[in-house]
Amino acid sequence: MASVEKLEQLYEGKAKKIYATSDPNIYWVAYKDSATAFNGVKKAEIDNKGILNNRISALFFQYLEKQGIPTHFVEQLSDREMLVKSLRIIPVEVVARNIVAGSLAKRVGRPEGTVLAKPVLEFYYKDDELGDPLINDYHIAALDLATPEQMDTIASIALRVNDILKTFMADLGIDLVDFKLEFGVHGDTVILGDEISPDTCRFWDSETKEKLDKDRFRRDMGGLEEAYQEILRRLESKLAN
Ligand code: TMP
Repeated sequence: MASVEKLEQLYEGKAKKIYATSDPNIYWVAYKDSATAFNGVKKAEIDNKGILNNRISALFFQYLEKQGIPTHFVEQLSDREMLVKSLRIIPVEVVARNIVAGSLAKRVGRPEGTVLAKPVLEFYYKDDELGDPLINDYHIAALDLATPEQMDTIASIALRVNDILKTFMADLGIDLVDFKLEFGVHGDTVILGDEISPDTCRFWDSETKEKLDKDRFRRDMGGLEEAYQEILRRLESKLAN
């Protein structure tokens, strides 16, 4: 259990709350049941979502660490809480895509499900008031959101995470369609932060192409909790220790 004490809340996001702790190197994260889409315009409380995303994120972070990816994960504390390394978040959301879906389908006019010839990385400016607009390396450098060296590290980690998770999920009968990562600076190193869960990834059953992610909420399909349970069940079948 925690060897640190939970102190004041630093931040409340749409899906998580972040607290300071008695150790300046460590933050305390609590996952909420809130689901939002379209930059918070659509909202609901989904039973157990926080519990499922906390557990799923912990399993993904542990697996990635084992594969040599530096992440902020320290330990899972309880069903909804984890300890992470304290980060100064870089305000760039990184999306990696293997299959056309969501906003890319609209932007390039290709049908959802089109397999991309190679992975695509996209960057979005993390700013809720602006609705997280798409940006590129030039904007990032010119606006000093991250240094070119940091962006090289971020792109290389994002592509490695994509390779690792695509293979891992394929083994569980799931297509890794796309996902969003966030990075931060701890000390002077860039590491993977935030969460990796069905809120931030698109997962399709490889056989049936059934959606097992937050698109079920975004598109009013129902069955969100059951879909997240199914992702957790498949992860645990592989990773149970
Ligand atoms: P998009 O197709 O809507 O741009 O989404 C791409 C991926 O990023 C998808 O896996 C969902 C994830 N995502 C987030 O995690 N947060 C967001 O705010 C958005 C818009 C997408």
